[in-house]
Amino acid sequence: MTRFPHLFRPLRIRGCTLKNRIMSTGHDTTLPVDGTVNAELVAYQEARARGGVGLIVLQVSGVHETARYTNHVLMATSDAAIEGYRRVAEAVHRHGTVLFGQLFHPGREIAEADGGLLSVAYAPSSVPNERFRVMPRPLKPAMIASIVQGYGDAARRMQTAGFDGVEIVASHGYLPAQFLNPRVNLRVDAYGGDLDGRLRFLREVIADIRAKVTDGFVVGLRISGSEVDEQGLAENEVLEAVTHLSDTIDYVHITLGTSASLGGAIHIAPPMTFTTAYVVPHAARIKEHVRIPVFVTGRINQPQDAEAAIAGNHADVCGMTRALICDPDMPNKAARGAPEDIRACIACNQACIGHFHKGYPISCIQNPVSGRELRFGTLPQASPRKKVMIVGGGPAGMKAAVIATQRGHSVTLYEAERRLGGQALLAQMLPGRAEFGGLITNLERELELAGVQIHKGRRVDRAMIAAAAPDVVLIATGAKPYRPDFPQEGALQIVDAWQVLRNQGTLGQSVVVIDWRADWIGIGIAEHLAQQGRSVRLAVSGTAAGESLPLYVRDHSAASLHKLGVQVLPYMRLYGSDTDSVYLQHVSGGEAVVIEKVDALVLCTGHTPVDELSDTIEDLAIDIRIIGDAASPRTAEEAVYEGLSVAAEI
Ligand SMILES: Cc1cc2nc3c(=O)[nH]c(=O)nc-3n(C[C@H](O)[C@H](O)[C@H](O)COP(=O)(O)O)c2cc1C
Ligand code: SF4
Repeated sequence: MTRFPHLFRPLRIRGCTLKNRIMSTGHDTTLPVDGTVNAELVAYQEARARGGVGLIVLQVSGVHETARYTNHVLMATSDAAIEGYRRVAEAVHRHGTVLFGQLFHPGREIAEADGGLLSVAYAPSSVPNERFRVMPRPLKPAMIASIVQGYGDAARRMQTAGFDGVEIVASHGYLPAQFLNPRVNLRVDAYGGDLDGRLRFLREVIADIRAKVTDGFVVGLRISGSEVDEQGLAENEVLEAVTHLSDTIDYVHITLGTSASLGGAIHIAPPMTFTTAYVVPHAARIKEHVRIPVFVTGRINQPQDAEAAIAGNHADVCGMTRALICDPDMPNKAARGAPEDIRACIACNQACIGHFHKGYPISCIQNPVSGRELRFGTLPQASPRKKVMIVGGGPAGMKAAVIATQRGHSVTLYEAERRLGGQALLAQMLPGRAEFGGLITNLERELELAGVQIHKGRRVDRAMIAAAAPDVVLIATGAKPYRPDFPQEGALQIVDAWQVLRNQGTLGQSVVVIDWRADWIGIGIAEHLAQQGRSVRLAVSGTAAGESLPLYVRDHSAASLHKLGVQVLPYMRLYGSDTDSVYLQHVSGGEAVVIEKVDALVLCTGHTPVDELSDTIEDLAIDIRIIGDAASPRTAEEAVYEGLSVAAEI
């Protein structure tokens, strides 16, 4: 008897049957390079299908030349797209997974310039968006007709390629949602005005698709249950629209948020500060009013949550997208009753949507194989098998130990502390970052499953290495706080971020936090101190607090800092301090900024590698590799990646 009976109950929708209720939703992988499906995308999607997911919705495909919202978006505007679609359909179907395509037009939500030149954006009316600062041109009726036909033509191409259905993207404030929204659609012709007028675009799109595909082909609609934005679609408006359309579509897929504003966009890929499955009540409200299947997506990262949503009749299918980026085998693990083996997504957003926003191919900080399936998907067994000593049990050393053991090497992992995890142990103590600790829990389970020999509380030195005579030593000894040299007079309390988290030092009421990395640490420490009732100034060397963070994490943190009354001082570097003042300097203008009546200065000034070992063993005939922060302090993403790539190569 499965532990997840509702999740693994098949679902019939029109001409196809989902073998379970787990869905990988449409997500732009940035893997395609020329607007068509390539081998990387096929391998990426096949890995998820092989892992047992019931339904894959392929990433958005533009339905019209004006739909290019990024430089790498897939395009379904010509028959040349069919061949690539066919390859992905064959790969996904090989594993009994159903495949839908996403039909997409961004309207005014044009995010990226092509070759440095922003293209003209089109929308129902000339209403600008806040996030990308786009002023669109109003669509003329002839162009509306051509876009409507683009939807139908794209659906026909997808069906020709073997897809089982399509999903119209009316979510996140994209073109169909712009037509629906009375604050964005100010038209006075047949496409605007009352609900009937504002629904006309979607009705025509659905009719055009239906006219160009066969009867068994699924046509679904993705829409934000609420756009969570003052100018966005409100919950009651969405309910009304969905109720009107429900007799013309096969399912409705509920998510949250809008691309149009910084606050609304956070819900596109909600960070770990949001509770898991928080979108489910929005789907449940819709489900009370419609008879078609309701899909739901947003922070459902474990099968237990998905099972509860379906068992409670709140939804029929659960999107678990980042959960599947992080562990493509999650459905199979759940099906065989081993949820504790799942590498749970921690909603850090760093390598999935974080890469997307930088224009890089998708990956995952915990699962660097994601997006790199062609390189790391199948690792050969090691030959010859080597004796491998790994020094340091942070993310780099842990991942290296797992992979090297899986490849057949004889591996021993040494950690000087009593607990594995390295800096991740501290990172999870920052406000709202507790889930980051999942990185350690997941790696510990991987170590256990691989059967790695681990010695905790053992500091490795040259003598130990010489005596053990390994073939390979991986140095993964991490980093420690970096203290820059700066003029100090008097006895101002100065501590680093690690000391704050360990409750060391007396900080007083007024604190200045120096944030050189503009990442989680400075923000987290500022929040932590403000939550304790202190007056906090956050002096960031970058243009904004959290400048180097994934966008939605940054924007959500900005809201927390604001609520807590933290004063953010951008463009500041530390110049010096005396008994009760901190001296800053504007990084581009050079002017001095003095902050007086300060009780403590907290340094979030980065790290310096810890590697006392490599020089001492250079003369031994051993292959020595330095990985993660011990090589150069960066983030957990590089640490885990280097653990994998070194272990794949030795
Ligand atoms: C890298 C990435 C790209 C995304 N691109 C799209 C997209 O092309 N179309 C879309 O409808 N949603 C897109 N999304 C949103 C996802 O479909 C999904 O709603 C989101 O990841 C939240 O679900 P989750 O918590 O299960 O990950 C994207 C999400 C990620 C992480
Ligand atoms: S990078 Fe972070 S948010 Fe993205 S899939 Fe991996 S764990 Fe989840």
